[in-house]
Amino acid sequence: MSWIVRLQKSSLGSKYIMAITGAGLFLFVIGHFAGNLLLYWGQDAMNAYAVELHNLPYGALWIARGGLLIMVLAHIFIAYRLTFQNRAARPQRYQYEATLQASFASRTMPYTGTIVLLFILFHLAQFTFHLVAVDPVQLDPQGREDVYSMVVHAFQSPVYSAIYVVSVLILGFHLSHGLSSMWQSVGLNHRKYNLAFRKLSPLLGWIVCLAGVSLPLAVLFGLIK
Ligand code: HEM
Repeated sequence: MSWIVRLQKSSLGSKYIMAITGAGLFLFVIGHFAGNLLLYWGQDAMNAYAVELHNLPYGALWIARGGLLIMVLAHIFIAYRLTFQNRAARPQRYQYEATLQASFASRTMPYTGTIVLLFILFHLAQFTFHLVAVDPVQLDPQGREDVYSMVVHAFQSPVYSAIYVVSVLILGFHLSHGLSSMWQSVGLNHRKYNLAFRKLSPLLGWIVCLAGVSLPLAVLFGLIK
């Protein structure tokens, strides 16, 4: 285990961990939104999917949840440490914050990341732990947990829909920079592949997030009822 401690302490190791955990979390978002798009297919499709997910064999759901938690914690821990180290190394903040090289997206990574974290806590409290802003758990006509109605009722509120739309757009912004800089962090920075690595990966991030944003909007505009 000591190699992990040494790896995360080195600056190169930190970059690798940020890139790998970021890519893993992005894969989770792709899978999660692909499942959520079943809202367009209606109550039966969505609730059947939720049951299948909860009944995956060999404890696969809990293994995935464990992996997800480790990736989130590692990503956040190293992100905050890098941010504070950078600030400590540069106590006198630049007079012009807009440095020539750093884009707006890159300079705001700690803020967009923190907003996404707060959103995830709210989201878990709402849809997973049913602690805020949802009706008590209902069953559908087949006796399954009615995940479809829970989500649709929540998104019928313009306030909750707005929280999701804004948060997922901020996630898109965070991902767009993360995905384009990830390649450099792991040393895949060849001019020949720059278009694929640095341009197409953020585009994929935006496509996935816009698919996610479409869900609350589709409920608000009555496309999903
Ligand atoms: C339109 C947007 C979204 C919808 C409709 C949605 C829907 C849901 C639902 C219904 C659940 C509960 C699943 C269940 O217990 O059966 C859930 C859980 C979860 N969501 Fe989302 N979600 C959205 C966006 C996001 C985003 C942007 C993230 C993270 C960046 C996220 C992360 C999670 C996590 C970590 C869980 C817990 C998974 C688990 O129980 O293992 N969700 N989501």
